[in-house]
This record gives sequence, structure tokens and C-alpha cells, in this order.
Amino acid sequence: MAVSLPPQGLSKEETLERLRAMGGNDVRWREHRAFGLVYHHSDAHTELMQDAHNLFLSANGLNPMAFKSLQRMEHDVVRIAVDLFHGNDAAVGTMSSGGTESILLAMLAYRQHARGHRKWIRRPEVVVPESAHAAFYKAGEYFDIKVVSTPLQSDYRADVDAMGSRINRNTIALVGSAPCYPYGVMDPIADIAALGRERGLPVHVDACLGGFLLPFVERLNPEERIAEIPPFDFRVPGVTSISADLHKYGYAAKGASVILYSDMAYLRHQFNLSTDWCGGIYASPTLAGTRPGGAIAAAWAALHSLGEEGYVSNARAAMETAKTYINGINAIPELEVLGNPPVTIVAYGGHGPDVGAYAVGDQLEARGWHVDRLQRPESLHMILNPGHLRVADAYLTELRDAVEYVKTHPDTAFEGSAPMYGLIAKAPLRRLVRKQVMGIMEQMHAAAGGGKNIGLPAEGAYAEGVPEEEAIAPIPPFLLKAMRVKAQLGRLFRRA
Ligand SMILES: Cc1ncc(COP(=O)(O)O)c(C=O)c1O
Repeated sequence: MAVSLPPQGLSKEETLERLRAMGGNDVRWREHRAFGLVYHHSDAHTELMQDAHNLFLSANGLNPMAFKSLQRMEHDVVRIAVDLFHGNDAAVGTMSSGGTESILLAMLAYRQHARGHRKWIRRPEVVVPESAHAAFYKAGEYFDIKVVSTPLQSDYRADVDAMGSRINRNTIALVGSAPCYPYGVMDPIADIAALGRERGLPVHVDACLGGFLLPFVERLNPEERIAEIPPFDFRVPGVTSISADLHKYGYAAKGASVILYSDMAYLRHQFNLSTDWCGGIYASPTLAGTRPGGAIAAAWAALHSLGEEGYVSNARAAMETAKTYINGINAIPELEVLGNPPVTIVAYGGHGPDVGAYAVGDQLEARGWHVDRLQRPESLHMILNPGHLRVADAYLTELRDAVEYVKTHPDTAFEGSAPMYGLIAKAPLRRLVRKQVMGIMEQMHAAAGGGKNIGLPAEGAYAEGVPEEEAIAPIPPFLLKAMRVKAQLGRLFRRA
């Protein structure tokens, strides 16, 4: 797709009009039809975020001497987070652009720390529960760290014995989530931290999702909560770092997270210095060079404008919303919520073989909901915010309809995207799936890409307008057919 600069600049109105038009096909998050990606507090709060962001739109945190304002704001944000997570005066940290960057930085810091303190290590390893976020694998690839994934307990929480059995002389850190993305459950942080202490290893708590929600849920009355929140932060001896995203339940503008350490002894390994560069002495605390001032200012503004009272009342509303969805889903006999999620991240799947979650997901999508799917087990995923309470009745009614439809139309398991998602979740096909996804990414970023209709192709190319010879190979139809036959036979035998 040839795109070039317009010879003359567009007017402000036309520029904005075109942007709005492009946004027109995006997911309908303002109507609460999506369950993730966007964390919306209120329209008034969004307006404040825009204003705060605008004030420091051009400011650059790269040079804290030039922008003392940003240095001050970052310091305030970090100290507030340290306070929320019960750190002492030794606890330190920085802001980053998001959860992934915070996790990358922690893994980098632990690798560098190990290089100084465990000099025998050639190939460092980090032990994580299987539910740890994909960002840890990204860190592994970027920084040449082996990520050792360990199985979960039946309630989807980390199995600390399994983690302990995978520690060896190359291990540089342990990881737990509070809560994890897939199942929304809290790993047993106290046990992971005890293991870390026993084996002399630092422990990272990934509170990217829960960091700015859990401390306020803890402040609610017991009857307002779903469950008691076990300590997950610096109160737990042995926890040495925490990542927590302001752009999630902190309700800041996108591009804001914190990475905190119990001690400067770790943080210093995150810093990067080039003292011999002809361009001058260059020091950067995080992965970025230029650090956007708008995101830092908006994060400061979110914390100060909502204050403790604002976050607590939001947590109260979020808990009511989560209870409504969890109870509503569990009341549908064919479905069940996975594990016991204590806050707002919920995954659910089919009870028996007759109602597949992917087929239900297709039906929800046909009714206008944006659906996220997990691979193991076959299930659907939601991240809830208070706004979702407004659509809970509609969602649960349509979910019941969707389940009824799938029950009475067994072929839905072999139609739409359901068989494809079922197929790609199967272990033997990992390499094929990888090839497919790589092909999609290449097309998306190729000259002909850009905003096309994308997704894993079941039977053909993903992008309209892409010449057939350039289109990525579809998942072979014989595999899809084989899967349909296998599922149909399975059903026949179950009936027999
Ligand atoms: C538990 C957890 N960790 C890390 C991340 C990565 O955060 P980001 O998308 O801001 O990079 C997420 C994102 O959802 C998450 O849920």
C-alpha cells in the first residue's frame, strides 16, 4: 500500500476527522464491550489525563536536569508506590513505559547482578510458574536468560515444590504473580519468597495487573471482598522486586508502570552508562532513551487526583462487578470459573465436553462482544472494571443464549474460529502456529499491511488485497478436517 506525505498539510479539522474515522472500527470499549486492553475510570478522569498529558507533551525525562519537574514527578510516583507496597526507605525504583518494560528491566537487573555475584554462571536461568506473563519469555530472548516454566497446582496457582525442584546453580531469580494474567489467581508469594530466602535467590513479584488494585481491595470490609488478599509485597521477607502498572488499575494514561526493588543493590544493575561516547556522557535508567513527559505527568495526576479514597471506592465497585460476573457465570450449569480469582481477572470454560468455550466465544462475538481466549485450558478471559457492571445483565443474558445455542447446535464446535483455536492450542502444532503467527506479523508490517483484517487464518490468507502468492500459508485444511472428524467421533462415542 503506497503511502506518502500529503503535498500540503491537512487542516486541523481534517486531520482529526481522519483519525476519528480510523478509530471507528476499533473495539467498542466505551460501551464496555471489551474486557481488557482499556482501563476506563470515568470521562472526567480521562479528560484530566488528557490535560495532564498535554501539559508535558514535549517534555523529555531523558535529561532530569533539564526537566526537574519530571524527575520530581517520577520520584513522587515511585515513593507513593513504595508506600503502597510497604517498602522501607531502602526501597527504590523507576517508572517505565509499561509492564513489559518493568519486567524486562527486573530480569536485566538480576542477570547483571548475578554476573557480579555468581560469576560461575554462563547461561542464567529464571524459574517461573507456567502462568507468568509472556514478557518473561521476551526478557529471556532479549537477554539470553533461560526461562524455566513450572507446572501449576490444580487451582492454577504456582506449585512452589515444582519451582524448587527446578532451581540449580544457574538460577538467578524466582517469579510469582499477584495475580497472574491467565487465571487471575494469586501465586503463593510468601512460599515463593521463603524458597528464595532458603536458596539465596531474589524474588520478583509481577503485580503489573494487580498492583494498583490489591492495596485498595485490602482496605475494604471483608464482606465487600471476594476473598482475603494474602500479603504479596515488600511485607513478605524475600520479595526483592515488584512491577506494577499505572496504566492498568492505576487509571493513568498509557505508557506508565513502576519497577521497584527492595534495595539499590539491585536497581543499580538496571542503569546503563556510556561514559566514553563522543556524544557526551550518556546515562539512562530504563530501556528508553527519550522518556515521554506526558505519561509521567499523567501518572502523577492520576495518583493525586484519585487519592486513596478514589482508589478504594473504585476497588469497591470493581469487587461488586467481579462478584456479579463470577456468580452469574457459575450459575450457568454448563460453565465454570477457573480456580478462585480473588479480584477482577476471570477465566471460564465449559464444564463438560458438550459446550466448548471457543464455540461460546464465537457466539458472543456474533452478539457484539469482544472476546479473549486462553489456550490452556480451552477458556474465555475477562479483565473487569466498574463500568462492566452496567452491561452485566446484558452480557450474562447473551452468555446464557450463547451456551444454549452451542448446546443445541453441536456443529458450532466445528465452525467459525472454534476449531482453529482448538487446533492451535494442541501441543504438537507449536511450530506450525509459530510459523503462522510470524507470517501474520510480517504481513502486518510489510508494505502491503496496515490496518487490514487480521487474525489467524483458518482456511486462507488473512489480508484482503494481498496477492495469493504473498499470502501466508493457511493452517492446512486436512488438519482442520482431521480435528473435526476426531471431535465428531469423540461425541459419537460419548453418546454410545
Ligand atoms: C500480569 C501481567 N504482567 C505483565 C503484563 C504486561 O504489561 P504491558 O502490556 O503493560 O507491557 C501484563 C499485561 O496484561 C500482565 O497482565
